Amino acid sequence: MNQDPNYEEAKAGNLPLPPLLERPQGGLVTTATEWNNIRRREIRSYFVRLMYGELPPRPETIRFELRRERSGALDGAALRREVRIHLGNRGREHFIDALWYLPTRNAGKVPAIVGLNFKGNHACSHEPDLLLPDPAHARGPVAARGEQEHRWCFKSLVENGFSVITAAREDLFPDRADGRAESVWRLFHHEAELTPANRDLTAISAWSYGITLLVDLLLSDPAIDGTNIWVHGHSRLGKTALWAAANDLRLAGAISNDSGCCGAAPSRRNFGETLETITRVFPWWFTERLDAYAGREAELPFDQHHLLALVTPRPVLVASATEDLWADPRGEFLSARAAGEVYRLFGSNGIGDAEFPPPDQPVFGDAVGYYRRTGKHDVTPADWEFVMRFIRRNSMWK
Ligand code: GCU
Repeated sequence: MNQDPNYEEAKAGNLPLPPLLERPQGGLVTTATEWNNIRRREIRSYFVRLMYGELPPRPETIRFELRRERSGALDGAALRREVRIHLGNRGREHFIDALWYLPTRNAGKVPAIVGLNFKGNHACSHEPDLLLPDPAHARGPVAARGEQEHRWCFKSLVENGFSVITAAREDLFPDRADGRAESVWRLFHHEAELTPANRDLTAISAWSYGITLLVDLLLSDPAIDGTNIWVHGHSRLGKTALWAAANDLRLAGAISNDSGCCGAAPSRRNFGETLETITRVFPWWFTERLDAYAGREAELPFDQHHLLALVTPRPVLVASATEDLWADPRGEFLSARAAGEVYRLFGSNGIGDAEFPPPDQPVFGDAVGYYRRTGKHDVTPADWEFVMRFIRRNSMWK
């Protein structure tokens, strides 16, 4: 294998997406209750076994240490907290550093956005007094302050009434084949079990677990509206956001940005990244069993519209970028549309039978949304504008 990626729609393959409501042993799921009690569990267990593995369990202890708090951050718009989340289990310890903003001006409880970042909390904002990553977690070169500030737009989010919380992916699972030994999985496994070969302990599940810890932290403050916590993620962290929402039902909805292969894009389409490439280049993200489906995608008992459907009945927004062909924008759209079949069991219409929209013209349907921003693989202020519009449309909070 190891072929050049295909970018021609005519060669993407016309494999039908596998059914959402039909059970493998026959029989159709026809109600929301049956979906929740039977089919949802069945599908989640496929993803556990064949793609992402289980999330780590709850640790024996979780403690929040407020390391620093500053009012008047972001030109007065925010209260900023830097919190260390200490986890303890069987005498072992691990910590994760969270960066958390709350709007200064708010009446009543506020909605929140939770998401991991790629390069450290200090890289998400130019504020000169943000703590730098702990040397125990900073491996390799430390990113410059504010290097990825455009990906977050903290100020605009808090000015629009959102609290935002983030932590670095590296705090949960250093993103490399041998990262497992230093990952949060160490709390639950002996060193000998934390080898690159033990692929059941995946990075994507460790990162998703990070989201659930950040939700715990958010819920420790009564100023947060616990019914209105949205997970957001870009690219590999977009795959993570969807898997986190599938597992943590406290999340009000999910936004996947350019999540691509093993995120929102169907594996059955041969367009951009494929299972063959992703399992070869990033084996630590997935269970070993996924490797066998490279080139045999049609044999998978699910596709990625099943992952979107695991978010039901909560809203899900799938975002692509016009130049991000690697992530297969049209495929991401097709998944979002197909997931509507399950949303309809819950009385929402999804994006109905909408067609692939032109750039920057979102299809904000009923609980499911899709848009394709002009530009590259990234998160930009324009993305956040779409995200805030989608959340406002789909939540009680306006
Ligand atoms: C690579 C990878 C993608 C991933 C992306 C990212 O391009 O192939 O699957 O989404 O990195 O996380 O930026």
